Amino acid sequence: MAKIYYDADADLANLADKTVVFLGYFFGNQGAAQAQNLRDSGIPNEKILIANREDGYAADAKAKGFNVISDFGKAAEVTDILFLLIPDQVQPRVFNKEFAPNLKDTAAIVVASGYNVFFKLLDFKPTQDVVMVAPRMIGSSVRSLYEKGKGFPCFVSVEQDGTGRALPLALALSRAIGATKTGAIESSVREETAMDLFAEQALWPNIIKLFTEAYSVLKEAGCSDEALVYEMWMSKEPAEIFEAASDEGFIKQLKHHSSVSQYGQLNGALKLDGTAIRAHFKDILYNQVLSGKFQREFSQIEDDLEKEGDANPLNQLYSKSEETELGQGEKRVRARLGLP
Ligand code: NAI
Repeated sequence: MAKIYYDADADLANLADKTVVFLGYFFGNQGAAQAQNLRDSGIPNEKILIANREDGYAADAKAKGFNVISDFGKAAEVTDILFLLIPDQVQPRVFNKEFAPNLKDTAAIVVASGYNVFFKLLDFKPTQDVVMVAPRMIGSSVRSLYEKGKGFPCFVSVEQDGTGRALPLALALSRAIGATKTGAIESSVREETAMDLFAEQALWPNIIKLFTEAYSVLKEAGCSDEALVYEMWMSKEPAEIFEAASDEGFIKQLKHHSSVSQYGQLNGALKLDGTAIRAHFKDILYNQVLSGKFQREFSQIEDDLEKEGDANPLNQLYSKSEETELGQGEKRVRARLGLP
């Protein structure tokens, strides 16, 4: 059973006199949310430094009263605790070149996602602490739930205990950003990366495929685009089902549906043979995610994600996906309804 850590397990005194640097401060995302929560938890403003390139986010941080620095080398020299909150694909380049060479031997590095640590893409010294404090929540909710005095789900782990004090430090940081209020779950970068990439590369692609195939089958059977987009997602019924699954239980939420629906769904799911999908899922998990195959492939194209038009592989994938019957049907309906 995974341990769950609460406020009582975490002592903010572990952060006394430490200079906390946030590398990355994107309004609405993790950097801005976590920095504000930490300050509101009593960490003095003069001990918090926002390291951000000179962009609109730096200006926003200044407007919120934070001390901002754009020279990462200088920021590294004073860092005791570094929150690494820039996009995962730029972390190795920025951290390894601009931060790591000047970072103290006893500094602690905090990641909010397991990816770069699991795939060993960051250059840490063995004397440094490396911890994961990974909210399972978008940044704006990390902030708004904190402001309401509520917690949010979060994974916490120690990946390298250079100082021998990494766990109390990770728990104090989790508490300071508001994550131990409802319980921070003990995890690891392996577990976080496996679940995250599995969801992105196995579970959701299958859900997207199921929706596109279902759309085509029903379209062929004479259903209109208008009826289909509302029936399948624009009514927000799938969103309501997942909300009820979270509140009441994945299976129990079915009780809100008609008897015909409950019988159809439960009987239909139990009758399906899961052998092929299980083999397919295992193949993705072991041979694509945990083996590092995906990470190596992605590292080949990640620089192209900055490009415009068709030179950007993501734009090509969007174009192809919009060519499907579902993509075309939705486009027609939204245009007819005057929706963007
Ligand atoms: P983000 O990906 O929106 O990063 C924005 C920040 O990065 C800005 O401050 C920007 O100035 C800086 N930045 C971007 N490119 C840069 C570059 N080339 N050089 C220097 N700075 C650069 O931040 P986000 O989404 O909050 O992600 C940060 C971390 O949090 C990631 O590890 C992510 O996986 C993790 N995370 C994100 C969640 C989310 O909902 N967005 C949820 C949980 C974890």
